[in-house]
Amino acid sequence: MSSPFQKLISELARAAAIRLPKEIVERDPNEMQSYSSDWTKLAGQAGIVFLPRTTAEVSAVLKLCHELKAPIVPSGGRTGLAGGAVPINGEAVLNLSRMNSMEPVDTLGLSVRVQAGAVTQQVHDHCKRSGLIWPIDLAAKGSSQIGGNLSTNAGGLRVIRYGMARKWVTGLQIVTMSGDIIELNRGLEKNNTGFDLVQLIVGSEGSLAVVTEATLKLTRVETETRVFLLGLNSLKAAESFFEKARCGPFQMLALEFLSNACAQVVREQLGYDLKFSAQSAYYLVLEVEALPGLPLEAPLVEWLETVLASGLLTDGLMAQSKREASECWKLREGITESLQKKTKIKKFDVAVAPHRMAEFLAEVEKWYASQTVCFDLYVFGHWGDGSPHLNVGKKHTASDSNFQKDYEIFEKWVFAALLRFHGSVSAEHGVGVLKKHWLLLSRTPEEIRIFKAIKRAFDPHGLLNPGKVIDL
Ligand code: MLT
Ligand code: ZN
Repeated sequence: MSSPFQKLISELARAAAIRLPKEIVERDPNEMQSYSSDWTKLAGQAGIVFLPRTTAEVSAVLKLCHELKAPIVPSGGRTGLAGGAVPINGEAVLNLSRMNSMEPVDTLGLSVRVQAGAVTQQVHDHCKRSGLIWPIDLAAKGSSQIGGNLSTNAGGLRVIRYGMARKWVTGLQIVTMSGDIIELNRGLEKNNTGFDLVQLIVGSEGSLAVVTEATLKLTRVETETRVFLLGLNSLKAAESFFEKARCGPFQMLALEFLSNACAQVVREQLGYDLKFSAQSAYYLVLEVEALPGLPLEAPLVEWLETVLASGLLTDGLMAQSKREASECWKLREGITESLQKKTKIKKFDVAVAPHRMAEFLAEVEKWYASQTVCFDLYVFGHWGDGSPHLNVGKKHTASDSNFQKDYEIFEKWVFAALLRFHGSVSAEHGVGVLKKHWLLLSRTPEEIRIFKAIKRAFDPHGLLNPGKVIDL
C-alpha cells in the first residue's frame, strides 16, 4: 500500500535513528502489522512504530514528529471499534503498551496511579487485592488499556451503576504534540480553578494529547451480588421488566440484553449454551447488589417470584455459583468475538433515551423484516443505558459489494431514525473515522466549530491522530 507520507516517514526514520534509542523504534513490516489495525479490522498501515518505555521517550518522539511535521497515531490495546487507533494513511504509530506499571493502591484516597499501557484487567486485579475496584468493566478488558479506556471514555457493562470512564479519573499526565509533559489535576477530588482539562482530554480519542499516566478513582468491591439470565418474548416485556427492576429491592449493576440470534451465534462459535429448555426471542443478563445495609437474598427471591407470576418472562435463572454467574456473562461477553468468527460484521453503537429503547428497537426490527437484504441482524447491548448495538453480518451467499450496498441503505435508515429519536450516532465506541461523517447528526455546527478551535489550540498543524473525530 503506498502512503501519502512515505517520504516523510523515511525522513522520520532517519532522524529517529540519530535522536531516539534504537530499542523503541520498530520498522520490521511483520512486527508493524499488528499496530496497523484494531478490532474494526480497518485496513491501516503503520509507517513506523515507536514503543516508548517512559514519558520522557513519548515526549522525545512527539517532539521529533512535531519538528518534521510528521503525523502520528497514538495506540494502546487496539480493541477500539471506531478506528480511532488505526494509521489509515501510513502514519507513524506511538504505542504505549510497554508503559504498563501501576503504583500501590492508595486505600485512604481510594485511588491508584497507573501508566497508560496498563491492561484494564490487570488494573482490576491489582485493585481487588485491596478490596477496591476501578468499576469500568468491558468485554475487551483482557486486552484494552487504561490510556485507550480514557481516551475513548469507555462505557461497558456497568454504566447503569457507575457511569462511563470519565467519572473515574482524577488526574492525567499528558504529552502534547510539541512534546510538553503536563500534569492535570494531580488526583485532586476538588479543584475549582477554571476549565477542566482532564475531562476535555477524556473522550478526545488521542486527537488532543497523548495520555501517559492516570490517577484512577476507585470504589469498594460490591459485597453481595447476584446474576440472572432471563428469557423474554418481546421488547415491550424487556421494557416493563426494566421498569420493575428500577424499583426492585436491590441496586442494579448491569442490565444487558441480546437477541436469540446472538445467543445462537455464541453457542455455535464458542460452545456456550443457554440453560433453558426452549428458546426465547430475547435474553437479559441482570446483575444486582444489595442496597446499603439491607439483605439481598430473601427480598430478591420474593421480588422475582412476583415478576415471574406477572408472565413477563418466559424463563429465568438465578446463578447459584460464581461459575454459573460467569457462564451467564460469557453469553453476553462472547457476542463480539463470535460474530467476528462467523462472518464479516459492521456495527452501529447508538444511543437513545432509555425509556425509548423498546420503541427504537421495534422500529429497527420492523424495517429489517420489511426488506430483502443480504445481511443478518444481531441486536444486543446495554439495555439499562439506552445503548443498543446493532450489528449486521454478511450472509455467506452474499458478495462483499452487495453486503456493502445493503449496509449503506441500513446506515442511512438507522441514522435518519436516530434523528427522529434525538439519539446519538455513537454511545460508547467513539467517533474515530467510522462515525466522523455522521457527527453532524449528533452535534451542532456551533459545537463542531468549537471542537476545531480546541484541536487547533492543542495541535495547530493537525499532526496528532489526523482525520479522527474531526477534520481541521
Ligand atoms: C460490547 O458491548 O460488547 C462492546 O461494546 C463491543 C461491541 O459492541 O461489539
Ligand atoms: Zn458495548
